[in-house]
Amino acid sequence: MSLLKNKKVIISAGASGIGWATAKVCLEKGAIVFICDINKKYLSKAKKHKQNNKKLFVYECDASNEKEVKDLFLKINKKTKKIDCLINNVGIAGPTGTIEKLSSNDWERTLKVNVISHFHFTKFSIPMLKKNKGGSIINLSSGAGIMGFPLRSPYAASKWAIVGMTKTLAMELGKFKIRVNAICPGTIKGDRMVRVIRDKSKFLKISKKKIEKEFISMASMNCWIYEEDIGKTCGFLMSDDAARLSGQIIAVDGNAIRLD
Ligand SMILES: NC(=O)c1ccc[n+]([C@@H]2O[C@H](COP(=O)([O-])OP(=O)(O)OC[C@H]3O[C@@H](n4cnc5c(N)ncnc54)[C@H](O)[C@@H]3O)[C@@H](O)[C@H]2O)c1
Repeated sequence: MSLLKNKKVIISAGASGIGWATAKVCLEKGAIVFICDINKKYLSKAKKHKQNNKKLFVYECDASNEKEVKDLFLKINKKTKKIDCLINNVGIAGPTGTIEKLSSNDWERTLKVNVISHFHFTKFSIPMLKKNKGGSIINLSSGAGIMGFPLRSPYAASKWAIVGMTKTLAMELGKFKIRVNAICPGTIKGDRMVRVIRDKSKFLKISKKKIEKEFISMASMNCWIYEEDIGKTCGFLMSDDAARLSGQIIAVDGNAIRLD
């Protein structure tokens, strides 16, 4: 099935986790995919995959560094002047702790990676989306961007910022036929949640098993969410089937009822 045949998509932090799962869904559906990442190990794994896939382009770039993002777009512009979609996927978990225990460095780093990176990518993508006479921007927020998230205040603040950015950009860019939506993933089965559960268990001195059970029970469907679930939602949002869908904040979380 080629729902995304030759659609061009840029994915920030696309060499592992949700970004990589999304890249693979897009490739399967026929898209041409440009990914960047900061991690050399993940990049080399993605480059191996590239050897069998001429539609995948892999770059090293720190998404929070404006100069590096500018250079990345110069490189992508040599391949194409137009894109159909930007997926602002980059985001770090940030620190775990009560607010008295957190440092301003922790806050600054989390906001820089999770919010300012999206600004850089969006700024450099808009001319390419306009040349394309429209397209789609998909921002990765989180369940923490629509609820509070105890012990993760910088992360929650950064993800609420993404919701505000999504709503505003959808209003600004609608006249250019550029649709802007956000996805709020629930608790994803993967490396990041292993780290989050470990940190929370250490901070609260509760077993990892108990913390994991609590995380899963936050969804009324009592389930983990998988990286591919987010990839498939991205695939739909960037397709022509979502042609009139913009300004929406879409939770893919098994109906999360609390986050604590
Ligand atoms: N995993 C979850 O449970 C979950 C839940 C809700 C929302 N999200 C959001 O979804 C997005 C992806 O999450 P994930 O779990 O796949 O992330 P992850 O922590 O697994 O990291 C994915 C990739 O980001 C890269 N990366 C980190 N900093 C970077 C930078 N400055 N520049 C370029 N690449 C960088 C890493 O090298 C890695 O390859 C994030 O925005 C995250 O906040 C994740």
